Amino acid sequence: MDSIIVTGNGPLQGEIPIAGAKNACLALMPATLLSDAPLTLTNAPRLSDIRTMTALLESLGAEVAPLQDGQVLALSSHALDNHTADYEIVRKMRASILVLGPMLARDGHAVVSLPGGCAIGARPVDLHLRALEALGAELDLRDGYVHARAPGGLKGAVIEFPMVSVGATENALMAATLARGTTVLKNAAREPEIADLARCLRAMGAQIEGEGTDTIIIEGVQALGGATHPVVADRIELGTYMLAPAIAGGEVECLGGRMELVQAFVDTLRDTGVEVEETPRGLRVRRGDGARVRATDVATAPFPGFPTDLQAQFMALMCTADGVSHLEERIFENRFMHAPELTRMGARIEVHGGTATVTGVERLRGAPVMATDLRASVSLILAALAAEGETVLNRVYHLDRGYERVEEKLGACGARIERVKG
Ligand code: EPZ
Repeated sequence: MDSIIVTGNGPLQGEIPIAGAKNACLALMPATLLSDAPLTLTNAPRLSDIRTMTALLESLGAEVAPLQDGQVLALSSHALDNHTADYEIVRKMRASILVLGPMLARDGHAVVSLPGGCAIGARPVDLHLRALEALGAELDLRDGYVHARAPGGLKGAVIEFPMVSVGATENALMAATLARGTTVLKNAAREPEIADLARCLRAMGAQIEGEGTDTIIIEGVQALGGATHPVVADRIELGTYMLAPAIAGGEVECLGGRMELVQAFVDTLRDTGVEVEETPRGLRVRRGDGARVRATDVATAPFPGFPTDLQAQFMALMCTADGVSHLEERIFENRFMHAPELTRMGARIEVHGGTATVTGVERLRGAPVMATDLRASVSLILAALAAEGETVLNRVYHLDRGYERVEEKLGACGARIERVKG
C-alpha cells in the first residue's frame, strides 16, 4: 500500500488547478442509464471512486470509455443486460445506490445491494427508498438487496423529504425525469452537485425547474436523449487547497475556483484572518508570515452552509490557531476520526458528542498517521504542511478516492511531499 510523506517546510507559493467534482460526477454517470443515447462528461476527475462507478455501470451492461487521459467519459447504455448492482461493488462505494432510480425509471425493475454503514456514520438509504415508493415503486428488501419494480412505470408525486439528503434528492430527481406527470421535490438538497445534475438532465431533454432551491419541479418525459456536459468544479477540493496556504502560510491561486461554490466556507476563512480574493482565473488565498490565524467556530450544515466535507480540513487549520474553537458536526454522527490522529501530531482536541473543542498550539509535530476516510486523510496532509519534521500518511487509498495527484498539486507550490509506492 502506498504512503505519502510530508515534511513541513513553510510557506507555499503557486497555483493549483481544481478538478471536476467527484460527487457531481458520481451522480452524473448513472444518468446514462436513463437513455439509450450517448452521454459525454467532460472535466471528469481521475479518481478511484470514478473507476468504481465505471465498473458498476459496466457490470450492468453500459459502456464507459475514458478518453483524453480519463478527463472525458463517454458513456452509453443502449441496452442493459443486467439489472443487479452487486454487493461486491456497492460495498466499496455508497454512491452506487444512485443507479437504482435511473434503472427503475427506464426499465421498470432493478435490484441493488444495500450499502451498509461506513466509517463516518450509519448512513441509511431510507429516504432514497421512500422517495421511489412515492413515485409508485414496489420495494422488497431481502438478502441484503433492494428488489424494486414498477411494472406500469413510475408516476409523478409530491415528495417532501423529512431531512435534506443529497443522494436521495439525486435518485428521486433522476427517476422523476421519466415518470408520468409532475413530481415536486420539497426540502430538496441545494448542493451545486444537484444543480449540475439537473443541468445535465435538462441537456438530455428532461424538464426540470427550481434546482439550487429547496423545491424542484420535474415534468416527466417519454424518453431522454444524449448530451455532452462539463462536470462542475469540485468545491471540496477547492476548499481543501484553499486551506493549504492558510495553514502553511504563503499565497496560492486555485484555478477554476468560484466563490458561489464556497461562500460560507470563505466567510469563515476570512473570519480567521486569512485573505481570499476573486481573480479572473479563480480564487487566491494569502496568509502573511508570522501571524497566527484566529480561532473560529464552525457548525456544518447542508448547502449553502459550511460543508461537512471540509470540517476535517478546517480542524487542521484550527489546530494552530490562536485561541479555542468549537467545531460542531451536524450531518454525520461519527466524523471526527481525524481528531485522535491530529492529536498524535501534538494538537489539543477534545470531542464530546457532535462537537470538537480545539485549543490552538504554536506548532504541530510530524508523526506516522493514518485515516479511515477521505477527508480525514487530507486533513492530516494539510496539518503536516506546517508541522515540524516528517509525517507519514498510511492507507493512502482513502485519499485516492477523492483527490487526484495531491502530491503533484501541492509539490508544485513548494511543499515537500512525496508518494512512496508500497
Ligand atoms: C453526499 O453523501 C456526499 N457523497 C458526501 O460526500 C457528503 O458528505 C454528503 O452528501 C453531505 O454533504 C456523494 O455525493 C457521493 P446525504 P450522501 O444523503 O448523499 C442521512 C465525501 O467525503 N440520511 O446528504 O450519502 C445521512 O445518514 C462524502 O465526498 C438518512 O438518514 O449524504 C446523513 O446523516 C462523504 N437517510 C444525512 O442524511 C437517507 O436515506 C445527509 O446525508 C439518506 C441520508
